[in-house]
Amino acid sequence: MKADMSKNVPLAHSPIWDRIHAGPLANPAAIDLETFRSSGPLFAISMWDPNRYGLRYLKMLLFALLSVDGKRDTKLYRKISNRALGNPITVRVRGVDVCLDYFQAVDEAKTIAASGLPGEAARLVEIGPGYGRTCHALISLYPQIAEYWLVDLEPCLALAHRYLERVLDRNLFAKLRFVTASEFGEKGGAERFDLALNIDSFGDLPPEVAQAYLALIDARCDAFFCKNPIAKYLDPALGGEVATNERVQEALRSGLARDVIDIFDSEQVDAAVPKFLAAYRPGPDWRVIVERPAPPWSYYHQVVFHRQNSRKQFDDGPRPGGKDQ
Ligand SMILES: C[S@@+](CC[C@H](N)C(=O)[O-])C[C@H]1O[C@@H](n2cnc3c(N)ncnc32)[C@H](O)[C@@H]1O
Repeated sequence: MKADMSKNVPLAHSPIWDRIHAGPLANPAAIDLETFRSSGPLFAISMWDPNRYGLRYLKMLLFALLSVDGKRDTKLYRKISNRALGNPITVRVRGVDVCLDYFQAVDEAKTIAASGLPGEAARLVEIGPGYGRTCHALISLYPQIAEYWLVDLEPCLALAHRYLERVLDRNLFAKLRFVTASEFGEKGGAERFDLALNIDSFGDLPPEVAQAYLALIDARCDAFFCKNPIAKYLDPALGGEVATNERVQEALRSGLARDVIDIFDSEQVDAAVPKFLAAYRPGPDWRVIVERPAPPWSYYHQVVFHRQNSRKQFDDGPRPGGKDQ
């Protein structure tokens, strides 16, 4: 029966491919062998044009990240309610809808927990919280947090206030304090915190401002979670601008880890990590308890430093997955 069918059905019948062959593959002899694997002919044959299909790649990235993560994380996502506010771009894995921001927030929460924090009645201060996704995750996952300060410039602080008021219940929202960066610099002097956080923000600041924040952390905090770029890069093909552009120049001058590297060369990335850890260490009394890359970003790293002579006693020695400096 099958043999008979193959006689009647023309095996070259392929309407979809006839159309493709009429396009970028119409003249195979004219295809430039030197460049075709990063241009139209390749995008016709074996992968989608990344310039055109950014959303598809973002969702594939997110799906891959969530697929390799353990089932345990599903429980964590379920504990963080109202993650759909703002209509985020999500994928659905094991019955939960997750966006890239909350994938990161849960990853950050797990890194902090690997360092033994937060402890009972903990007071946290996050500098540069954006719209508040990390605060939302930590305060939902760790009921032992007593108080969570958000320190930011006014526009983001106002947005975080509105967002967190909607996503958190009244009891959790009552634990939050919204403080502008200026107020924190002026008035927060008497306050002490068990844990300070900075995620993707010190890397954008003038070095003296980042240093001033580190000095405040050194003076007032017992632990510091830092997740920032380990270096700078110069590659307009990544969607950036040319190196001479003032915005690029400003970015190159900002933050405390400013070596320029190829952020997609794992050896260069690994080599930049010790300098990053040294640059964001708040002072000589501090040591690294946990440090690891910050997926999915190739050139971000996350680290928890503890102060050695802190009021709270931490175990000696690095935690699983951590590395002493
Ligand atoms: C790239 S966003 C990161 C937001 C959030 N941490 C995240 O990872 O999604 C940088 C944040 O730093 C804040 N920021 C910028 N300059 C600041 C300053 N001088 N003091 C405090 N926060 C600042 C911005 O307003 C913004 O909330």
